[in-house]
Amino acid sequence: MSEMEDLHVSDCERCPALVESRSRIVNGTGPADADLLFVGEGPGANEDEQGEPFVGRSGTVLDDGLRDVGLAREDVRITNCVRCRPPENRDPTDEELAHCRGYLETEITRLDPEVIVTLGKVPSEHLLERSVAVTKEAGSLEDVRIGSEPRRVLICVHPAATLYDRSQAETFEAALERAAELAGVDGSSGQTRLDGF
Ligand code: URA
Repeated sequence: MSEMEDLHVSDCERCPALVESRSRIVNGTGPADADLLFVGEGPGANEDEQGEPFVGRSGTVLDDGLRDVGLAREDVRITNCVRCRPPENRDPTDEELAHCRGYLETEITRLDPEVIVTLGKVPSEHLLERSVAVTKEAGSLEDVRIGSEPRRVLICVHPAATLYDRSQAETFEAALERAAELAGVDGSSGQTRLDGF
């Protein structure tokens, strides 16, 4: 089995409500040896339709933010805490998060990323196992044990939070800059997206 196949969940029926609401399982994308792993909450309508994480408006914000710090979507791995779209875009329940945890931990173990970037409150709290004030804490790096290994988690605001709030956009960009730095990318050529915001 290839590393990519190994990270691919093709059949899961653990969460009855999500089995009902999903069109498909949305697996992580990107290289199986990426230095940066971005973790969102769960697929929305666009992701459910296209079968890829962060392909709607949030995805455009993420792509732009990555480009601004000298990265491309193809350079990083992007995944979610749950792989099936919750009904009416509600947050995944604790039970659903727990059901999907093993897939996420397997992905993290296989990747062995330099840094895990949590996009928003749900993934930050899920991986850090504490309550997180994302806006206040964005950009901070924390060591945490995930599975059996110590990991570095960088808290980041969710890309959607930046859409109507310039200060969140700045916070988002600063966190991505930190992520790029930690991954050893020189983002100095990046033109900030805020110029035309
Ligand atoms: N928001 C998320 O948290 N994940 C996605 O894949 C898309 C939007």
